[in-house]
Amino acid sequence: MTVNEEKPLRAIILYDRKTSGGSTDRLIDAIGHELFENGAYVEKAKCRANADYSFVKEFDLVILGAPVYYLVVSSQLLGALVQSNLKRCLRGKKLALFLACGSPEPMALTLYLPQLKVHLFTNRILSEKIFAPDQMDDPVAVEEFVEEILTEYEKADKPRHGSSQLQWDDDAAEMVDAMPSFISSKIRASLEEYARMNGIKVITSEVLQVARSSPMGF
Ligand SMILES: Cc1cc2nc3c(=O)[nH]c(=O)nc-3n(C[C@H](O)[C@H](O)[C@H](O)COP(=O)(O)O)c2cc1C
Repeated sequence: MTVNEEKPLRAIILYDRKTSGGSTDRLIDAIGHELFENGAYVEKAKCRANADYSFVKEFDLVILGAPVYYLVVSSQLLGALVQSNLKRCLRGKKLALFLACGSPEPMALTLYLPQLKVHLFTNRILSEKIFAPDQMDDPVAVEEFVEEILTEYEKADKPRHGSSQLQWDDDAAEMVDAMPSFISSKIRASLEEYARMNGIKVITSEVLQVARSSPMGF
């Protein structure tokens, strides 16, 4: 599977680990390489609990990954989700999660992954993967993880394209275009949301008037 070459997917791997050059580092390099091979632009950044994560907004896909030490997901990643603006910067982002650990997968899914997911319940999680010791240096495991991320990313992106099926008649389009640009984009998005919620296929000036007087108050 390939990513749109004109506008490559921008992915960032946010991670924590204690061992430089250990299994997490190797996994990150392998995941990054596989994403790159599939046409994505990839960066990585090591988490610090109190860092500023505003830069995350520039990425389409965020992969969060860390090892487990003493029953807890590596602390700077968890700390960043609790203490910094990371959680806010991840709003609306598509995510993938992975953990490196020595426990069997069922245990890791029950005990460790929720430590991350509890902070991310409003996010779309495209794929989650536990890398057990026998998978850490297995290229197939990494390929399958990346394949699932990219397939789910494409699927998740489709509703956005679907919104273009909404039509605007000329009157309604002119009314919104005539508004100052800082308002018109907001009104356009709100109207399309209103239309979708009410099963409306064509946005007309009448729809605009009704929406304006609705409790949503455009
Ligand atoms: C000090 C220490 C504590 C660990 N504690 C756990 C644990 O509680 N649960 C678990 O599943 N794996 C545990 N592991 C295994 C690590 O999560 C696993 O080896 C991981 O790949 C280490 O990543 P790293 O090489 O990037 O440091 C521990 C490993 C170490 C060295």
